[in-house]
Amino acid sequence: MKDIIYSDKANLETIFSLTRAMIEEKDLYSLLRQIHDQTKQVLQVDRCTIFLFDRDRNELWSWVSPDLEIEEIRLPLGQGIAGWVAASKEALMIANAFDSPFFDPTWDQKTGYCTNNILSVPMLARGSELVGVIEAINKQGSNFNDYDRSLLMTFASLAAAAIRDVERDMEREKFIDSVVRSFGETIDARSEFTAGHSQRVATYVRNFAQALGLSNREIKVAYYAALLHDVGKIGIKDAILEKPGRLTPEEYQSIKDHAAYTRNILNAIDFPDDLKEIPQIASSHHEQIDGGGYPVGLKDNQIHKLAKIISIADVYESLTARDRPYRKAMSISEALEVLIRNKGTCFDPNLVDLFIEKRIYHTELRIHKRISVDLAIEYVLDPEGQVKEEQIGRGRALNLSQSGLLFSSDIIFPTHKLIGLTVYIPNDRIEALAQVVWCREAELPGKFQVGLRFADLSFHDQQKLQRYLQKIPTIG
Ligand SMILES: [Fe+2]
Ligand SMILES: [Fe+2]
Repeated sequence: MKDIIYSDKANLETIFSLTRAMIEEKDLYSLLRQIHDQTKQVLQVDRCTIFLFDRDRNELWSWVSPDLEIEEIRLPLGQGIAGWVAASKEALMIANAFDSPFFDPTWDQKTGYCTNNILSVPMLARGSELVGVIEAINKQGSNFNDYDRSLLMTFASLAAAAIRDVERDMEREKFIDSVVRSFGETIDARSEFTAGHSQRVATYVRNFAQALGLSNREIKVAYYAALLHDVGKIGIKDAILEKPGRLTPEEYQSIKDHAAYTRNILNAIDFPDDLKEIPQIASSHHEQIDGGGYPVGLKDNQIHKLAKIISIADVYESLTARDRPYRKAMSISEALEVLIRNKGTCFDPNLVDLFIEKRIYHTELRIHKRISVDLAIEYVLDPEGQVKEEQIGRGRALNLSQSGLLFSSDIIFPTHKLIGLTVYIPNDRIEALAQVVWCREAELPGKFQVGLRFADLSFHDQQKLQRYLQKIPTIG
């Protein structure tokens, strides 16, 4: 009796602590991992799998199953135990798996694992919205009982609420990300000479912020502010922006106005609290630490650290970008010389040193480091409107980098075409718009190798990809 009371108390404590942790958790993967670990601990089971409901495809997929030898399981609703639980929204408690008509023994046969008993419960948000299924397998020393079932049901409804919360945050982030990026692209599209400028500055800035060991939030703020830094150029006339020769003092003043315009435009946007500093940072990218910059003439410690980073990346990118009508592109060492010469006047000396020491300017090389992989991919050529199942092509990525991937195909892909792409990395997936850079015959007859470059990858997916790439050794 004492034992039961003690274990009830322990379970309640676990549920309380998990609830607290779940409310605070903003990363889906870590949240699922917590749900997984706590389920195993509270129910004393050997294995646990968390299935999430993929609304687009009306199927379940296993996001966290670190114990399984199989990387990912996909189940149509109604199929298998978890599929039945998802479709009926009812729990299923099975004392002997092999006696159950829902049990599919294939995985056990493949992996040599022996499933005995299973407790599978739906994760329902607000009582009825299907979020996924928690499956607990092989209770140690006994079978599952009604108490286990009600415990896991309680647990699953808390988990469902927390998952929906994080998903909603991700949807909101995805929205903000797409707005910010399309802003950046609009500026870059203003002139063919500055095409890709904001994007490249943002890439340097992201790597810079990471090298400084800043938090994820700061890295995101820096990246978005960099994408938006020149948004004020919308207010400058083409004739001045594109002028090939020297600018008159009035024209130069007008160009300088873009920094203040950036501030005005961004101030009009109601950024969420964690991104509130973006207008101030983005509009300070021409401030100098000796106070000689614009639009305000701020001095060293009045300038936000992230604005100082953007300022270095911005100048370096402009100097080394391809030839402008008014001057030739500088070599890397010439551009670094300019940064060094202006240390202490325009730029923060420590940050310039770091930019050089850590070779942050070598972003291009970094981007093209590739890893050898074997990952499932799905693609749709020229994605427009509603995609039908039969239009989805499937293949395997052969290698992958931060900038794109290579895969083998039975068909020829026209170069420059855009592809809607999903890359399935373990326990996660990355959605991108990608462009066919090249397509050539492989050694095997009838096979082609296709090189894709990511044309549009959200900040969230960039981070995911980077986390994944960091875990695996590069191949050069
Ligand atoms: Fe600027
Ligand atoms: Fe710029």
